[in-house]
Amino acid sequence: QILPLILSGGSGTRLWPLSRELYPKQFLPLTGEMSLLQQTLHRCHQAGLGPAMIIASHEHRFVVAEQARAIDLQLDSLFLEPLARNTAPAIAAAALVATATRPDRLMLVLPADHSIVDEAAWRAALDTAIPAAVDGAFVTFGIEATRAETGYGYIRKGDGLAGCAGGFRVAEFVEKPDRATAEDYLAGGQHLWNSGMFLFRADRLVEELGRFEPKLIEAVREAVERRAGDLDFQRLDADTFARAPSISIDDALFARTAHAAVVPCSIGWSDVGSWKSLLDVLPVDDKGNFLHGDVVLEDTTGSYVRTDGILTTVLGMDNVIVVTTPDAVLVANKDRMDGLKGIVATLKRGN
Ligand code: GDD
Ligand code: MG
Repeated sequence: QILPLILSGGSGTRLWPLSRELYPKQFLPLTGEMSLLQQTLHRCHQAGLGPAMIIASHEHRFVVAEQARAIDLQLDSLFLEPLARNTAPAIAAAALVATATRPDRLMLVLPADHSIVDEAAWRAALDTAIPAAVDGAFVTFGIEATRAETGYGYIRKGDGLAGCAGGFRVAEFVEKPDRATAEDYLAGGQHLWNSGMFLFRADRLVEELGRFEPKLIEAVREAVERRAGDLDFQRLDADTFARAPSISIDDALFARTAHAAVVPCSIGWSDVGSWKSLLDVLPVDDKGNFLHGDVVLEDTTGSYVRTDGILTTVLGMDNVIVVTTPDAVLVANKDRMDGLKGIVATLKRGN
């Protein structure tokens, strides 16, 4: 049975003012009744995967546990990171734990903060990926690129994989290219976006990552061995985990390995990276608006307007994002979402 590993890190400043450091986007019900984390757990359950392992920041332990309990899903385990070291150490910790009981266990890494509209297509892609992963490949799921996004990794599809219909070798993996390169990729039509979901054998991950990042595996192995566990939480040892270099799995493994594979898929995927991208996946009305809460609009189109409290009204505006929370309001041009990081940085400096 596949072991889902849900990564719940990230601080989600791009969805300010709703997401905050202590309550980032994976915990918010952005696209339905359930939070993105709960949807991810639910999706695994619906697909008949085993109970999920979650790895999250120590600060978020109670939110994570409570959100799983609220939808009545039993976890395999909840691992806590004493400090953020990016995705490679987090995934390595989980894989090391998995190999202790069953070395060739298949693991499916899932970011906690993505939205997938077509779950049946997602399950089909997973079935396609299984034989390649059993064979020892690191299988990514590739999304057709529709814009020159610089916030994603890009995968150039190579030859078809023997023994895996629908799977391909990765000819090239480029994590977060610059704008000009991303535009070339889009025009060329040969590249897919890396969705951030991976399927692999636990023992293969430990082995291959160990070749590229031996210090990382060594530090994480100790942090796992010295972990303090009780019924609810598995706390990785802080001093040893801190010795692991901070690096993403994309840079540490995918950009280097000769054993990456990709399953192209069309699953209605969004990484919900900004208010604008949220509007792309939500069901909008005939004027292209999405409203949430006590909102009244007049002569307004293509806008996302959300309030979690006071009545919010918008008159005669197009393509705006308006988000009202009890202590902060955002009013922004939909095409200026890149600038939100700057606002949050300014706020952090206390200006
Ligand atoms: N537990 C844990 N610890 N999770 C983490 C950590 C960490 O230190 N850092 C990041 N994560 C989680 C995030 O919460 C998210 O779910 C996932 O790992 C990916 O991290 P991001 O920080 O969101 O990465 P990204 O969006 O910049 O890039 C990645 O995702 C893109 C698709 O959304 C890369 O994999 C890109 O190649 C990819 O295109
Ligand atoms: Mg992301």
